[in-house]
Amino acid sequence: MLSYRHGFHAGNHADVLKHVTLTALVRLLTQKDKALMVVDTHAGAGEYALDSKFAARHREYADGIGPLWDVSGLPAPIADYVALVRACNPDGRLLVYPGSPRIAHALLRPQDRLRLFERHTTEQRVLAAHFADAGRRVAVTPGDGFAGLKAVLPPPSRRGLVLIDPSYETRDDYGAVVAAVTDGRVRFATGCFAVWYPLLQRREALRMPETLTRLAGAGDWLHATLQVRAPQDDGFGLHGSGMFVFNPPWKLDAALREALPVLARLLAQDDHAAHTLRGHAR
Ligand SMILES: C[S@@+](CC[C@H](N)C(=O)[O-])C[C@H]1O[C@@H](n2cnc3c(N)ncnc32)[C@H](O)[C@@H]1O
Repeated sequence: MLSYRHGFHAGNHADVLKHVTLTALVRLLTQKDKALMVVDTHAGAGEYALDSKFAARHREYADGIGPLWDVSGLPAPIADYVALVRACNPDGRLLVYPGSPRIAHALLRPQDRLRLFERHTTEQRVLAAHFADAGRRVAVTPGDGFAGLKAVLPPPSRRGLVLIDPSYETRDDYGAVVAAVTDGRVRFATGCFAVWYPLLQRREALRMPETLTRLAGAGDWLHATLQVRAPQDDGFGLHGSGMFVFNPPWKLDAALREALPVLARLLAQDDHAAHTLRGHAR
């Protein structure tokens, strides 16, 4: 029985990297009028109460969105993301953290579509309730997002962003991500695929950059990492995370180049905090 609940981690440094990147991606991909379909294969609950028993247990958000909350003069890509989180907290106190579905939804236009997959029954229920009045622009599908992805690609408009954000609770997720991207790119070669992965002292995680770069082949890609502290001696714990984007939109590179050094500085937990940004464009 898998027990991962994103509520324990909502708003942590990994969410910040993922959601700053997601915000920039959706902003850039909605600059053309043609409809965009956003697919979130591992959607989670859509939003999280930071005073819930989950989030309050470890207060991971205090090392993620927390240090960004009251900072003025943030670079535009971070400020844009923080503004979306602020919109969920109208009285100015950080009490609710939006998940990827809510962040994407906030940026979509009437012609765009959001396809959400979630396997955990409790998270599904919360997610479905959140989007109950969203109409046909949003579809919440219970079950396996890796399998569900096959059915929605390519999107009718041939413009799409796929976020693949598993919990990596079992090592099978690493292989499933590779299989999903491989199959997805056959179905939808021009699609933008964004994969989040953890920086962990674990063989499968350490291999992800090389595996994903090989998968990208001669195509365009961008790979950002944010490390907030030194890896722990016992090999446990998340010391950072990475976002690997296949077919990134033009200007994502510039947005992340502006955001990453500031995130590494503001979210640093020790003097091993660092960022990287690499890519290839034809
Ligand atoms: C890291 S969380 C997602 C967080 C969310 N994308 C966000 O950024 O707000 C991973 C989610 O995937 C769900 N999950 C695990 N395996 C899945 C699968 N095969 N298909 C769909 N959802 C799955 C878990 O229940 C969990 O809610």
